[in-house]
Amino acid sequence: MLDEIAQQIKVCARCALAESRTNAVPGEGSPQAQVLFIGEAPGVAEDRQGRPFVGPAGKLLNELLLEVGLRRPEVYITNIVKCRPPDNRAPRPDEVRAWRDYLDGQIAAINPQVICLMGRPATQTLQDPKAAIGTVHGQGFEREGILYVPVYHPAAALHNESLRPALIEDFSRLKRLLQQRLER
Ligand code: URA
Repeated sequence: MLDEIAQQIKVCARCALAESRTNAVPGEGSPQAQVLFIGEAPGVAEDRQGRPFVGPAGKLLNELLLEVGLRRPEVYITNIVKCRPPDNRAPRPDEVRAWRDYLDGQIAAINPQVICLMGRPATQTLQDPKAAIGTVHGQGFEREGILYVPVYHPAAALHNESLRPALIEDFSRLKRLLQQRLER
């Protein structure tokens, strides 16, 4: 199921991003992951390699995952939009809409216990279109049996060093919420 979705994503031409991409980036990790991480969209390195979070933000994400006690192969990592927007601009609402049923399909196929929403676009797509990441980050909420945890996007701390302590605190909270959730 997850593989089928990945194959469809790789040849998808539903929106104009297909014209400028090198590779679509379906996501990677365990199909049985208990924890799903959702970012924004591929950047230059991800577009080149066809893999999520392999550039500078990915390096920081790997460090944050280690702090949480998770290894990349045991989680699943994807993005709301699977092709790189030109010049790394934010994905447009029509692009997010075009990718939405692939994302919903991936969530249904993986059926995770916990979804970590990294950054504003993922949070506004899956929590609330008006959610302010500066307000909701680090606060888990439950919906349809899944615990969602919005956090700052790792790239935010690369652009603005002053956000790094809040990002680290978000992942500490994620760790505590995961421990409570997965032990019960
Ligand atoms: N930023 C994202 O949101 N996703 C990636 O895959 C890489 C950087």
